[in-house]
Amino acid sequence: MTDQQQLRAAFSTFLTGVTVVTTSASDGTPVGFTANSFTSVSLDPPLLLVCLSNTLNCLEAFEQAQHFAVNILSSSQQDVSNTFAAYDGDRFEKASHRTGNNGCPLLNDCCAWFECKIHQRVDAGDHTIYIGKILDYQYEESDPLGYSRQGYFSLQHEQMARQLHASSPDVVTGYLIEVDDCLVVRKQGDQCTLPEALAGNALEQLHLELQDGKINHSTGMLYSMFQFGDRGSHAVYYRCRAKTAPIDLTNNLHCLPIAELPIENFETKPVRSMLARFQREHATGSYGIYHGTETAGNVTPVSDENTQAYRS
Ligand SMILES: Cc1cc2nc3c(=O)[nH]c(=O)nc-3n(C[C@H](O)[C@H](O)[C@H](O)COP(=O)(O)O)c2cc1C
Repeated sequence: MTDQQQLRAAFSTFLTGVTVVTTSASDGTPVGFTANSFTSVSLDPPLLLVCLSNTLNCLEAFEQAQHFAVNILSSSQQDVSNTFAAYDGDRFEKASHRTGNNGCPLLNDCCAWFECKIHQRVDAGDHTIYIGKILDYQYEESDPLGYSRQGYFSLQHEQMARQLHASSPDVVTGYLIEVDDCLVVRKQGDQCTLPEALAGNALEQLHLELQDGKINHSTGMLYSMFQFGDRGSHAVYYRCRAKTAPIDLTNNLHCLPIAELPIENFETKPVRSMLARFQREHATGSYGIYHGTETAGNVTPVSDENTQAYRS
């Protein structure tokens, strides 16, 4: 990794929401781009800021504008984020919108929007900080879209998993721990299982074991949540990444290449289907969250690490 990529990776550990920043070009054309550099600044006067890369195609429109808007995306708007980060055609044709009182394009179905007058532009390295004085705003109760480590996530799913852990003692917690292109698997003879345990002592033991192996699984994102039909019990699996080194595998824990996982050697059918999905998703870098039963459910795409336009 180059120094810039390292710095970008370090910045990306900061968990943010996702916004689309919009303005109207001098000929009235709506322009906008995806931004997670949004920060609230001041209540009195009401100020916010966003950082605009000096390489943005739409920079000229912002330089000439007197107003801009910040639209905070909801968890159902991952496609809107991708459109405003990467689509070269008319982005507004793909996202329903209206015009605010101050002439800025406002996207529909957002968690919140703020229409601002440009208060100050501050040169800051390869970005320009736009500080806006809020003239008008509105917010809804909807679930916001989250972003961390170059992947999207939704708190709604995380909250569902947390409620499940709180309400039922009979929940298996498991981890898909990626180490480069390998997965941490417990292997006894041919029989394979994921690092997983029932809530309580066994789970604490597993966490200690992973800690001993210097496997940092604490930043995991929800990957699959399902009910075992026959027993009414649940399983929740998290996907996480461990650094290559130091990793010290003991107690039958092995790193197996994801592309060659011996899926048929895992005992239960839902885990086998989960691993088959994981293998496919790992190959494309586009992950989803499964929620359902052993046999039927939905996969919601929540992380698309390939559509990263914000990588230099
Ligand atoms: C989640 C996410 C956050 C981003 N945050 C910013 C940002 O804060 N500032 C910025 O200038 N670009 C950011 N980008 C990149 C722009 O959205 C991207 O470069 C966009 O295509 C620019 O539009 P343009 O065609 O006008 O250059 C982000 C992209 C993503 C996916």
